[in-house]
Amino acid sequence: MQTITTVAELRRVLAEARKAEKRIGFVPTMGYLHDGHLALVEASRAKCDVTVVSIFVNPTQFGPNEDLSTYPRDLLRDEQLSRDAGVAVVFAPDADEIYPAQFESFIEPGELAKPLCGAFRPGHFRGVATVVCKLFNMVQPDVAYFGQKDFQQCAIVCRMAADLNLPIEIVTVPIVREPDGLAMSSRNRYLCADQRRRALSISRGLFDVADKFQSGERDVEKLTAIAKKHLTTLDRLQYLEIVDADTLKPAENPLRRTAALCTAAYVGSTRLIDNVILPLPTS
Ligand code: PAF
Repeated sequence: MQTITTVAELRRVLAEARKAEKRIGFVPTMGYLHDGHLALVEASRAKCDVTVVSIFVNPTQFGPNEDLSTYPRDLLRDEQLSRDAGVAVVFAPDADEIYPAQFESFIEPGELAKPLCGAFRPGHFRGVATVVCKLFNMVQPDVAYFGQKDFQQCAIVCRMAADLNLPIEIVTVPIVREPDGLAMSSRNRYLCADQRRRALSISRGLFDVADKFQSGERDVEKLTAIAKKHLTTLDRLQYLEIVDADTLKPAENPLRRTAALCTAAYVGSTRLIDNVILPLPTS
C-alpha cells in the first residue's frame, strides 16, 4: 500500500493501473476510519482491482461553528486499517493541494441540497459536492462507494454524477451499525458513556418504524410519531422526516413510493444522523 499526498503522484500511479486495464474503486473519506468505511473498502475490493481511499477533512463542508478543528484525525491508524483491509493507495493530501490559493470554483447542488441537513448546514453540500467532484477528477475511478448513513449526500452525489456526465458508477453501501444499533460514525468518539447510551434511542426509533412499516403501516404521520416517541433521551432533535427516496421532498401520505425516514439530532454537542429506507416496489 502506498500513501500519496500530491495529485501529480496520484495521477502517475493511477495512470499505470489504468494502462494495465485495472478497474479502479474509490472510497472518499474524512479519515478516522471505522467499520462503516471498511465495508465500503470491502465492496470496492469485491468489484475492483485497485482500491483508492482518500483521507481529507474537507474544510469547505464545515460551517463556521462546526467541528472542523476538532474532527478526529489519526493518519497512522487509518493507514494501518487501510493496509489490513487491502487498500492499494491512500490519498492523504494537505488542504493546499486540494484548495490552492485563488481557488474559487464550486459545484452548487440544487433542490436535493435544500431539505434535511441542507436546511441546518448552509453551504455543507456545496462543499461536499465540490470536493467529491475534485476527488473524482483526481482519481478518475470506475466506481465510487458511499455509505447510506449520509443518505442525502448519496442522493446529491448521484445527481451530480448524472448531471455532469461523470463516467463513474456510484454505489451506496448499507449502514454499518454497532452491535447495539448505533450507526457507525467517526463522531461517535465524542460521546461519553451516558451520551452513547442516550444516542441509542435514534436507532431504536428507526427500527421500530421499520417494523411497523413491514407490518403494513403506510401512514406518514403515524410512522413519524412512532419514531418520535423514542427520541426523548436526545438533547435536541433537528429533524425527523419521512421523505421520498428520489426527490427528498416530504413523502406522499400514505406512502406509495420508496421513502426514507431521516433524522439528525444532538446528544450533548455531538450531532448524529441516521436513516432507514422504507422500500416499496413502485420506486
Ligand atoms: O462522507 C464523508 O466522509 C465526506 O462528506 C466526503 C464524501 C468524504 C467528502 O468530504
